[in-house]
Amino acid sequence: MSKPPRIAIFGAGMIGNYLGGRLHAHARVRFIARPRVAATLKEHGLTVSDLHGHQQHIAPDALDVYTNPEAVRDAGLVLVTVKSAATMEAAHELSNVLAPGTPVISFQNGVRNAAELRASLPGHDVLTGMVPFNVTQPRPGHFHQGSSGDLMVERATALESFLSAFAASGLSLQRHDDMQAVLWAKLLLNLNNPLNALSGLPLRDELAQRSWRRCLALLQREGLRVLKAAGIRPAQLTALPARWLPSVLDLPDALFQRLAARMLAIDPLARSSTWEDLQMGRRTEVDYINGEIVELATSKGLGAPANAHVVSLIREAERSYVHWHAEALLEALRKAS
Ligand SMILES: NC(=O)c1ccc[n+]([C@@H]2O[C@H](COP(=O)([O-])OP(=O)(O)OC[C@H]3O[C@@H](n4cnc5c(N)ncnc54)[C@H](OP(=O)(O)O)[C@@H]3O)[C@@H](O)[C@H]2O)c1
Repeated sequence: MSKPPRIAIFGAGMIGNYLGGRLHAHARVRFIARPRVAATLKEHGLTVSDLHGHQQHIAPDALDVYTNPEAVRDAGLVLVTVKSAATMEAAHELSNVLAPGTPVISFQNGVRNAAELRASLPGHDVLTGMVPFNVTQPRPGHFHQGSSGDLMVERATALESFLSAFAASGLSLQRHDDMQAVLWAKLLLNLNNPLNALSGLPLRDELAQRSWRRCLALLQREGLRVLKAAGIRPAQLTALPARWLPSVLDLPDALFQRLAARMLAIDPLARSSTWEDLQMGRRTEVDYINGEIVELATSKGLGAPANAHVVSLIREAERSYVHWHAEALLEALRKAS
């Protein structure tokens, strides 16, 4: 029997620890983590669970955790799971140590991470991936998947020998031919991340309120206009095409709950990673989400004032975090646009 593949997780946080924990029984997983995360894993071990009832625990001494990037040297596959602002540093560190030809998957939000990695890692298959679900850390060392969906990744022969490990781990990899269209579609959904943080509410409670959904619809309509002007067609990730989502979000609560039940099928405690970042006093990814719409609009001689306004509110929240009422924010966004 052949040995299980070696998979390195570069940037073990919410997503990295969750994916690594799921893969652990079917691959030789190595975690490259910051010292504080490594210490947590060494103290508590790693527990992964999901909203469908799956739960597994890995004892501390069964985990292979390093804080030095050197540790990726003998990996067969590397999953990059750092936040967007850390991609350039990760790319630089990987370029010093990665064995020639090792495939790399960017499992990150935003539309430019894989390109940044590719530019620094010539000679490697750098593949664009997408994580559709939300992960939170309810307790130290416990990573919980709070919503559904299959991982997506671009089609590549370099991945063939890893597919069975992902499938056996309950992480099916949906292969897609146009991952850039997938990333733009995900970005349109992620326009909600800062709203969720500004609401101070769990995602499910926020999305259950029409005024918050109307804020999101406004940001998405603006995003869709900009994408259209740039000739970008977002992929369809939800039951309805991306262009119909704002109209669904605008529906009254009772109708929305009936028609979009899947959108509300989220763990009651799940929140956006922007909320998480603000709690931890970290810089958020807003420049790589709403900021991308603003930048694309500018490059086409257009404006994206509502998304620009949200970027500036999150900048303020990074300095001093306050919650907004949905109606007040909706009015501010309407005024801005
Ligand atoms: N969380 C979610 O639910 C979710 C869902 C879908 C997609 N995503 C996307 O997935 C990506 C990862 O998100 P996340 O929530 O997992 O972020 P996260 O919890 O912040 O995890 C990233 C980890 O990587 C560490 N790191 C950064 N640079 C590193 C380096 N050079 N070497 C070793 N460790 C390094 C970070 O440490 P520092 O904090 O010290 O930099 C952090 O511990 C993001 O693009 C995010 O948007 C997240």
